Amino acid sequence: MREFKKNLGQLCGSKPHERCGVSRPEVPPIYATSVFSFEKLEDMDHVFDGTTPGFIYSRIENPTNKLLEDILADLEGAQRALVFSSGMAAISHALFSVLSPGDHVVVSDVIYGGSYGFFSEILRFWNVEVDFVNIFNIEMVKKAIKPNTRIIYCETIANPLMEVADIPYLSDLAKKNDILLFVDNTFASPALCKPACLGADVVINSLTKYINGHSDVTGGMVAGSSSFIEKLLKVRTIVGGCMSPFDAWLTLRGCRTLDARMKIHSENAMALARLLDGHPKVAKVYYPGLEKQSTYGIARKILNNGFGGMLSFEILGKESDLRLFVESLEVIEIVPSLASVSTILSIPAKTSHRSVPENVRLSKGISNTLIRLSVGIEPLEVIWQDISNALAQLS
Ligand SMILES: Cc1ncc(COP(=O)(O)O)c(C=O)c1O
Repeated sequence: MREFKKNLGQLCGSKPHERCGVSRPEVPPIYATSVFSFEKLEDMDHVFDGTTPGFIYSRIENPTNKLLEDILADLEGAQRALVFSSGMAAISHALFSVLSPGDHVVVSDVIYGGSYGFFSEILRFWNVEVDFVNIFNIEMVKKAIKPNTRIIYCETIANPLMEVADIPYLSDLAKKNDILLFVDNTFASPALCKPACLGADVVINSLTKYINGHSDVTGGMVAGSSSFIEKLLKVRTIVGGCMSPFDAWLTLRGCRTLDARMKIHSENAMALARLLDGHPKVAKVYYPGLEKQSTYGIARKILNNGFGGMLSFEILGKESDLRLFVESLEVIEIVPSLASVSTILSIPAKTSHRSVPENVRLSKGISNTLIRLSVGIEPLEVIWQDISNALAQLS
């Protein structure tokens, strides 16, 4: 028992790798502990005060999570980052850390349905005024700003219609009006766009998606200035939406292949968008890299190394044709998520945007037959053969 405690002490001590002698582990260890021990009361006091480095309790901070946070801050080009138990936890903690009752927010009217629900139901319940506006129409954004506006909120690539926000312009507008610009970078990931480097004050990612990239983690992150993150850390400590160290460890692994995965996701999606766009049974394709997409010019300006792995499209016909198409697919599965290494399909009206009122959804062009494809990293021929076979079933 003594030996066990001694070894454990060494593993968790100030030199975490000293058990390995002159070598170091190639992969960082997981600190699967909820709490840390101290030999002296005084040491604990100093760690609590922040005058000595150390860890106390994993709801506050954990070394595995901290390593991931440092890497994510670096990837996003931000001063600091924090990780959370989900993308929605990241969004809600970040918004709650800034807003008070009576404040006003200007929100893009095409965003992930869960985020839409947070603004329209939770924040309105807390007496925060919410205006959903067409974020791609700068005049409308300008008009929506009021003396009590605290935040402009948008997604780099909007879920599910794939328009790209003019982050540099929105950041200028926000700064002139003393407002914070929040950008959800989930669809682009920092491999394609670093909103903090374009002037965004707060950057959010669902780690469940591209950054981890293997559909085996639920997590979120927020990046921003040191002062903002310090405030957010207090909120996370009290509200408690921390990430599990095991999920943080898996996400560290995902970070190592992010650039390589995003390159193949983007190449496959660009090729598929063009193939679908020219197909006689396809009515419309939405992809940031298509010249006909209304924000193509902005996409070219702010996305680097590709236009991402997400595309949406409409087939010609009715809901029965949609069902026939989806059920004729043999490789691509219906999965209500995105950013997996495999190509997966979802119907926003039935999944990500199910909770958005139908009239709101339809007015934005998110129809009941819109198909969203998260293009994987398989050989393109495998994906296209499955899609073209399914399209061939339609009359
Ligand atoms: C753009 C975007 N942001 C945030 C989220 C929420 O992330 P999570 O499911 O990890 O809570 C999602 C989920 O699909 C999303 O698509």
